[in-house]
Amino acid sequence: MNFKELVLTRESVRSYDSEKPIPMDLIIDILETAHFAPSAVNNQPWEILVFTSGEKLEEIKSCYKRDWINSAPVIIAVKGDKSKSWIRKTDGYNSLETDLAILMDHIILAATEKGLGTCWVENYIPEKLAEVLELKPNEEIFAITPLGYPSKGYISHQKKRKSLNEIAFVIK
Ligand SMILES: Cc1cc2nc3c(=O)[nH]c(=O)nc-3n(C[C@H](O)[C@H](O)[C@H](O)COP(=O)(O)O)c2cc1C
Repeated sequence: MNFKELVLTRESVRSYDSEKPIPMDLIIDILETAHFAPSAVNNQPWEILVFTSGEKLEEIKSCYKRDWINSAPVIIAVKGDKSKSWIRKTDGYNSLETDLAILMDHIILAATEKGLGTCWVENYIPEKLAEVLELKPNEEIFAITPLGYPSKGYISHQKKRKSLNEIAFVIK
């Protein structure tokens, strides 16, 4: 897949084959690629949490009130530490959310390239997720993703996007 094909192949998958396990080697391969994501001043203020089975996986799923999440065999969360991310001196802006979004996007694209489905999920109950993951006051999670093979018979949906001329402007 070239990059454009990869971007067009990635989509929010909301139905997984819960019976089809993902080999751990494949997960590690995806994370190995994704961990080269850039971060402000290369601080890498993150940890990647991979939930593959057990109570914690079920608890994380219960933070997001949509039945489809239960079909996912794996959930990945990227956790950040705001005391480790870059802070712009002039106005106090903290780059943590940006750093984590880039990392998550790298994970999602690397997974897509391996034929796995993902979906950005942010509409979880944040307080519950913080409790389940025992986040410390300086730690944040901005997104999680399920990871898994799309369910049997899964049909891709059409991309709906604004046209380029509505959103891109060349300023001379
Ligand atoms: C920041 C962000 C948060 C999202 N949160 C959710 C979510 O909580 N649940 C969900 O089903 N999809 C969520 N999505 C997926 C979007 O709905 C989806 O990316 C968008 O509709 C475009 O569709 P596509 O990903 O299939 O191209 C989120 C996407 C982004 C970028």
